[in-house]
Amino acid sequence: MFNTKSIVLDLLKELIEQLDAGQISEVLETPPNPDMGDLALPCFKLSKILRKAPIQIAQELADKFPESKFVDRVEAVSGYLNIFLNKEAFINETLNWILAEKESYGSQNIGQGKNVVIDFSAPNIAKPFHIGHLRSTAIGNSLYKIFKCNGYNCIGVNHIGDWGTQFGKLIVAYKKWGDKGKIEKEQIKELMSLYVKFHDEAEKNPELDDEARAWFAKMEQGDSEALELWQWFKDISMQEFQKVYDVLGVKFDSYAGESFYNDKMDATVEELKEKGLLKESEGAQIVDLSEYNMPPCIILKKDGSTLYATRDVTAALYRKKNYDFEKCVYVTGVSQNLHFQQWFKVIELMGKEWSKELVHVPFGTVSLQGEKLSTRKGKVVLLEEILSEAIKKTKEIIEAKNPNLLNKDEIARQIGVGAIIFGDLSSNRIKDVSFSWDEILNFDGETGPYVQYTHARTCSLLVKAQTEVSEGFDSGLIDSKEEYQLAKTLYLFPEKVKQAMNELEPSIITRYLVDLAQDFNRFYHEHSVLVEDEELKLARLALVKATGITIARGLDLIGLKAPERV
Ligand code: ARG
Repeated sequence: MFNTKSIVLDLLKELIEQLDAGQISEVLETPPNPDMGDLALPCFKLSKILRKAPIQIAQELADKFPESKFVDRVEAVSGYLNIFLNKEAFINETLNWILAEKESYGSQNIGQGKNVVIDFSAPNIAKPFHIGHLRSTAIGNSLYKIFKCNGYNCIGVNHIGDWGTQFGKLIVAYKKWGDKGKIEKEQIKELMSLYVKFHDEAEKNPELDDEARAWFAKMEQGDSEALELWQWFKDISMQEFQKVYDVLGVKFDSYAGESFYNDKMDATVEELKEKGLLKESEGAQIVDLSEYNMPPCIILKKDGSTLYATRDVTAALYRKKNYDFEKCVYVTGVSQNLHFQQWFKVIELMGKEWSKELVHVPFGTVSLQGEKLSTRKGKVVLLEEILSEAIKKTKEIIEAKNPNLLNKDEIARQIGVGAIIFGDLSSNRIKDVSFSWDEILNFDGETGPYVQYTHARTCSLLVKAQTEVSEGFDSGLIDSKEEYQLAKTLYLFPEKVKQAMNELEPSIITRYLVDLAQDFNRFYHEHSVLVEDEELKLARLALVKATGITIARGLDLIGLKAPERV
């Protein structure tokens, strides 16, 4: 593998004996402006160890810097050592590297032999799959692919919310106002209406909540009527969820939801008891967390029923034992921060040294066209409807732009769904996002369609060229500003894949793709690719092909398809 940074590191290592390559690597940076070099070493960060002034260090390094075909020149400026790479060698090595690696460009083996559990999506049965779950699904699916690309073995778990008081509520609602035939016909829609009705009625008549709790307690005691209804509701919901996963192209390795832990929670309660962590409080069993400035973590309610946290603690014990994870990542809305802090603490108090391997990955809220898509208030917007809307709108755009496109429906699906996911993964996950159709479907904006369109452009150039593009092109011909910039951005991809993993942040890939597409389009507008001069054409095509490979790789990492035509 070619890696300019490691070549430069080797050169620097010879000069700075006091530090090893890893330490130098931490300091070496990419300057914001290419006039300051392609790489720079801020020497003030070394001044303590080397016991010299930064300006002096930079000057000495510049004076002693060895000859290398990869480095044109170095200069010492205000305590920085600025390193200018040799463009031709850089472009040559970068493009050949990508053309040789092809679909594995960016793959690394950092995680070889290690397991990571990614807990994501996890919608709740009988409640709608709302846009918050879409965020969890998009972020989790992307993290799954990013970890995999870094060499980890990933286990994607859909911790379906298929247990809890909401089923008690649904059973009460069904028994009071439900109609079997209507549910069979309307499926999840009818279940949701019943759920909404329950909340409306319970506001007027709080006794309904007691009835719901009683039904849930029955479920926990194995009552067959309660369990049959529960299974029925669950089957209906799962079918609905599966439709959404099919459209999104998302898969899981396990669907062990909350109910999976029913027969495993007694053992958890026992262990907590043995370790002296359980305390009675108003009839409930709790773990007191006041010492850590948190409200208690409730393990058993006063009627003996379990809670969300009880199941999470149990699931973590189970996963550690069965998957021996190096990390277990939970992707949920930021509103669940406290919940995760609490039960992570419980695991720590249980003496599990691996509690620090549990990581909560929170995200902000999403709204579409200015509407918060909440459930309770009866504003039931099914995710499936949003996805169909996106596909329909994309189809209209395609009809207007390129009516003769083959496979229009499939491509409209890939772009329409992609636009939503891309919009969702565009900014730091912790930020609230709000998008409008016009924004996310804009083919010229910083959007999924724009990146997919750019990818398709690379493909059509290659098709038109009808030449085999491979190594052996003359990189000396493609060293213009735009070409060099594009090669530099291409080169950054593996670094971004690693960074996205370390920061658990798919938006790093999303933003990178926008930069890459913009760099490519700048190049494309300034330089013709299909020129007469065969040598020049081959060199530019190498750049085009490397861009296509990298965009497709990046899109895959955020869960998008890369159609060859748009
Ligand atoms: N079902 C939950 C919700 O919709 C998310 C579950 C997340 N995973 C977990 N292990 N707690 O909010």
